[in-house]
Amino acid sequence: MKKTEKLKVNRLIENQIPGGNRHDRMPDLLDLQRFENKNIYYYKAVDSTNLVARKLAEEGACAFSTVVAEEQKKGRGRLGRGWFSPRGTGLWFSMLLRPDDSGYFDASPSTLVTAAVLADFLRTRFELPVQVKWPNDLLIGKKKFGGILTEIKAEFGRINYLIVGIGLNINQLETDFPAEIGQKSTSLLIETGRLFNRTELFLLIRDELEKAYRLFFAEGFSPFSRLWEKYNSTLGQTVTVCWPGGTMRGKALGLAKNGALLLQDKDGDIHTVNYGELI
Ligand code: BTN
Repeated sequence: MKKTEKLKVNRLIENQIPGGNRHDRMPDLLDLQRFENKNIYYYKAVDSTNLVARKLAEEGACAFSTVVAEEQKKGRGRLGRGWFSPRGTGLWFSMLLRPDDSGYFDASPSTLVTAAVLADFLRTRFELPVQVKWPNDLLIGKKKFGGILTEIKAEFGRINYLIVGIGLNINQLETDFPAEIGQKSTSLLIETGRLFNRTELFLLIRDELEKAYRLFFAEGFSPFSRLWEKYNSTLGQTVTVCWPGGTMRGKALGLAKNGALLLQDKDGDIHTVNYGELI
């Protein structure tokens, strides 16, 4: 890492907390003043930033408007699950995307684009060994610190808008997680022993994502597929994919052009899996 980059990293990481405790970390609310003129909608608490973003989209909010909340009372995960979103420790936000509706656009890889860009950003800035797991998980080691929930409003042949919801565990300690997810969850604080400036991190990530989505709308998934493959923890592994109503076991061979997983079963047949989760 270059010297100038190290300086930037240090500006982002506020301080070390050896054996840190909750008191050291409070209060840490996002700095509202930094959000002016950026189409950022800030809330102390919401049910879900995805739901707020959807409402704003229906009211005509412009592309790249971003809803961020200190806390989500009913944070939503994929496959109907919840997403643990306590106050002031993580980043919970949703971005509204409006792909140009003048032509056909395949939005299916949106989640993979988001994961690849986040992994690349966190690796480059902080030298964190972030990996992406198909389709929407961000991992360090085998533990999850981030997830993406992409929702779409479309008519036949036309996308009205997309909402990309991102949850990142930043300044939580192990003891902050409920028992049922504690074993498999982590945060940037747990991994580095350092507190992160969430405002700074959020603004940088938001800018990176806007830049990436503009490229995605112009050129599709191809500028991102190599990046995703570089950081993935999925390909080459024998995995079980499950979805509501079914499961399939096989070797994860690669990605289709639209981001679907190509899975080879024990008979050698290759299946295209568009939806599900790896267990
Ligand atoms: C998952 O891994 O299942 C996806 C988790 C997505 C969580 C984020 S937090 C911000 C946005 N609002 C939500 O209700 N969910 C997403």
